[in-house]
Amino acid sequence: MNNFEYCCPTHVIFGKGTIAKLNKLIDRNKKILMIYGGGSIKKNGVYEQVKKALEGYNLVEFGGIEPNPKYETCMKAVELIKQEGVDFLLAVGGGSTLDATKFISLAAKYNGDDAYDAIMIREEQVNDAIPLGDVITLPATGSEMNNGGVISRLATDEKLPFHSDLVYPKFSIIDPEVTFSLPVRQTVNGIVDTFVHVMEQYCTYDVNTPLQDGWALTILKTLIEEAPKVLANPSDYDARANIFWCATCGLNYWIALGAVQDWSTHMIGHELTAFYGIDHGQSLAIVLPRLLKNQKVSKSRKLAKLGREVFGITEPVDLKAADLAIEKIEEFFNSIGMKTKLADYEIDSKEAAEKIRDRFTKRNVAFGEKGAVNAAAAYEILSEC
Ligand code: NZQ
Ligand code: ZN
Repeated sequence: MNNFEYCCPTHVIFGKGTIAKLNKLIDRNKKILMIYGGGSIKKNGVYEQVKKALEGYNLVEFGGIEPNPKYETCMKAVELIKQEGVDFLLAVGGGSTLDATKFISLAAKYNGDDAYDAIMIREEQVNDAIPLGDVITLPATGSEMNNGGVISRLATDEKLPFHSDLVYPKFSIIDPEVTFSLPVRQTVNGIVDTFVHVMEQYCTYDVNTPLQDGWALTILKTLIEEAPKVLANPSDYDARANIFWCATCGLNYWIALGAVQDWSTHMIGHELTAFYGIDHGQSLAIVLPRLLKNQKVSKSRKLAKLGREVFGITEPVDLKAADLAIEKIEEFFNSIGMKTKLADYEIDSKEAAEKIRDRFTKRNVAFGEKGAVNAAAAYEILSEC
């Protein structure tokens, strides 16, 4: 096992009716900016629950954060913060709203001209941020218990991740009941996103981390068992609760501690979203199976173990078991209604392969546990998608 350090300062409040606890979590003297998305919270009762819990607080609102949140929108919230003198941010929504809030919390304290360039491109460490908390409404990103975010920039068609310990939420309220209202497409996106987060932390080479690997594989098994239940009955509380906790634990870094990671599916997926606007979950479902095939030799031991433990594959030869595991993963995605080919989204694979190869070449980047997913490999992978 590799050395590691771990500190997650987020207070997690999980379960039914927990939004009412907001007033125990935020100081009454704070001026709050409540940040939300395109309006789902006004249709499913979450907005009313938050307003009720925060009656008597000094509260300003900023709505309109879009899926794959845009820098341009975030900067409008920064302007409002500067006008209003806000000192606490409350994100109410999915991963996009929370990621945007994390970026806004840093950008509001950044004094230079271009916060995107500073935080996302030059990875300058901004050393102050407005504290934030959240009511997370979509199980997918794990953003409720991690220090990352992903922000897009319309002007340049970019979508890039950032990390800062200053943006760990002070608290995250996770009430599975608020997910009863999720459209099927978002439920499925969230399940696939969680599945792929686990894959990117588990499926590399083995450095003897049996506990972390066991957690990872149990998350995958739980997703496979619970997914059909929520699709059959969107108000199945227990299944929604299990899926939400899988999503949180899928990216709160526990399964990655001391292990070797590979975020190349995400890095290629982000480019597909940046160029073609497809959902984050959709982009991952397209890339993962072909990337695993392309990198099968280096990942065969862990893929075979996954195949045997999660899908009951009995094939004794690792490379063959790895092939079968990849097929089973794609079958699982398809079984819950997720399409896994670029053509399903009317995207030309050759064009996507060329665009993303050129971008990776220009940035001079290579991903994967051994740096093998470079521009040329991304081209090969996408050509097969
Ligand atoms: O905007 P509103 O109206 O709220 O509607 C949203 C949006 O249209 C809707 N929704 C959310 N909760 C709902 C609901 N509808 C009904 N009932 C509810 N309870 O769902 C739509 C999608 O929401 P979004 O927040 O975009 O989805 P998600 O949580 O999947 O977030 C995706 C973003 O997170 C980034 C992705 O790249 C993408 O930009 N990621 C963030 C990560 C992180 N912070 O660690 C890691 C991930 O890998 C991921 O990259
Ligand atoms: Zn993701």
